[in-house]
Amino acid sequence: MLVCGAACRGPIDSFAPVTPQGRAISDLFIATLVLSALVFLLVVGVLAYVLVRFRERPNDAEPRQIHGNTRLEIGWTIAPVLLLVVLFFMTIQTQRAVEAEAPGALRVRVIGHQWWWEYQYPDLGLITANELHLPVGRPLRLELEGADVIHSYWVPQLGWKKDTIPGKTNDIWVQFDQAGVYDGACTEYCGAQHAWMRVRLVAEPADQFDAWAEQQRRPSPTPANDTLRRGQAVFLQNTCVNCHAVAGTLANARVGPDLSHFGSRTTIGSGVLENTPENLRRWLAEVQRVKPGALMPNYNTLPDDDMRALVDYLEGLK
Ligand code: CUA
Repeated sequence: MLVCGAACRGPIDSFAPVTPQGRAISDLFIATLVLSALVFLLVVGVLAYVLVRFRERPNDAEPRQIHGNTRLEIGWTIAPVLLLVVLFFMTIQTQRAVEAEAPGALRVRVIGHQWWWEYQYPDLGLITANELHLPVGRPLRLELEGADVIHSYWVPQLGWKKDTIPGKTNDIWVQFDQAGVYDGACTEYCGAQHAWMRVRLVAEPADQFDAWAEQQRRPSPTPANDTLRRGQAVFLQNTCVNCHAVAGTLANARVGPDLSHFGSRTTIGSGVLENTPENLRRWLAEVQRVKPGALMPNYNTLPDDDMRALVDYLEGLK
């Protein structure tokens, strides 16, 4: 079990795969585990038997001395070789199954940043962050890339764990057969906030996914009242725009997470806080206390009214 604090929602379990690829990987793991356990029990069993059966008893004379046993030695050389050959072919078979290219797969670029995840759907023309929405029942190709250092993308129920490496693309093939929310984490140490680079994966029925994609593709909503207008002005006049994009405004920087539909996400800072107005205010005012080292300054000098308007504005970006 992975300890994941307040932000953790889905069960995290490598033994409960939710994709055919995950099941193939899990089956191979269990088969290897069982075979290893049998070998372990055999070796320990024979050792225990010999220790007891041939222990020294009172008045025993020195036993007959023997050196080597060709038949036994050939036996315990051939048996492990056969076992390894079996495991080798099982592994090859699993690799072929999980790496089979699926025609018509939906592509998603998964880009690891210090310390958050960027998701681009080139086929759908949308970009989001930290929460990955995917449709059930459709082949998916996750293309892992790294923006700065090496990260590793791990959602236990997928079976896969693969590195995101700058300058290289690693593919993960996935197809969900049931809807659910699955949590994961970065599993390659990548700096101070490696621990807060959580993954939340939302697998949803195709129609729900299409509705989500439709909503994410739209420009962010136009501020509908004075507070929201003020919030947008605060956002655009501060250094927020140096790093973040909000579709439909002049903010289009790609350094930090895209905030066009920030209000529709469930966590802040890649899982460090639940997404509530109170937590967002805390995040903005003292991000360096909430997630020390995050590449974002504290906005603790904003006047109260401005802060309230900014929080309302960002939370309204559905
Ligand atoms: Cu990214 Cu560890």
